[in-house]
Amino acid sequence: MWTSLLDVLLDMDPGHDDALALLTALPLMRVLAVTAVAGNQTLDKTWLNARRILWAAGSHIPVIPGHAKPLLRDLVTAAYVHGESGLDGYAFPTLPPPGETPHATEYLARVFAEWPRPIAWVATGPLTNVAAFLMDHPHLAHQIASLTLMGGSLSAGNITAQAEFNIFVDPEAADYVMSSGLPIRMVGLDVTHKALLRRDDLDRFLTLRRPLGEMLFRLFSFYGRHEPDAGEKGIPIHDVLAVAALLHPELFTWKTTAIRVGRGEDRDRGQTIPVMEGHPVDVAVDIKVSAFFDWMWNALGAYR
Ligand code: BDR
Ligand code: CA
Repeated sequence: MWTSLLDVLLDMDPGHDDALALLTALPLMRVLAVTAVAGNQTLDKTWLNARRILWAAGSHIPVIPGHAKPLLRDLVTAAYVHGESGLDGYAFPTLPPPGETPHATEYLARVFAEWPRPIAWVATGPLTNVAAFLMDHPHLAHQIASLTLMGGSLSAGNITAQAEFNIFVDPEAADYVMSSGLPIRMVGLDVTHKALLRRDDLDRFLTLRRPLGEMLFRLFSFYGRHEPDAGEKGIPIHDVLAVAALLHPELFTWKTTAIRVGRGEDRDRGQTIPVMEGHPVDVAVDIKVSAFFDWMWNALGAYR
């Protein structure tokens, strides 16, 4: 059957919330490939984790490894959130080795050059792969329909007082991307800290088919453990909101501003600062929380 699904590329560092983002995207869009980047864990682990999620979903789309470290800095991981594997909480089976793959930059160049239409890009990890692609292949930027990214904050941070993790890890990449001229939607902590998944709702994962439902239940039971407010308020599922923002911008309130990224050290590093001059970015500043969750559970219903 012919369908008019949106063509999408996903760049991610799975990661529990990346995993859920990937699973909500698969039934709703034509996901052409997933590229993995180092962030929540090292590249070998995020690449493996992306393959694990696709295994659970029964999907065979390509998973291509990208950059193993930020453009200029050493890698900082979030093992304290996602565990040693980057996806702790579920005992995945051993998957077959992936075989020979090109590097993500080369692979993306081929896809963008050959695809008959511009492709929407969603990035839910540090922006290293995206920036490196734009630096190497600026002539293909017109094939990027839009970039929707999870990252940044106009209010408080989650790794320093002001900085959000994805932007903090590779601020040079983020600054390059923010001023690249691409149509960008920035979905950051201003909204992801409002749409919290309540502990009571984890049981809903168990209504999904096996092993996927049980996997999500176990993964998110683990992921919630470090959140002191998880019992009362719930846990953030940041990256899922980027998928929602691409398909349903009406679920969000947007503020348009140029963004400069702090590239210094300490408190400056990774801050996303609204500035008057520069390329405008649409920043999500509020979200219709219950409509967002209706959308998410409806998307996951594809796995019943
Ligand atoms: C972001 O950092 C990562 O730990 C999550 O996967 C998300 O992309 C939230 O700050
Ligand atoms: Ca992520």
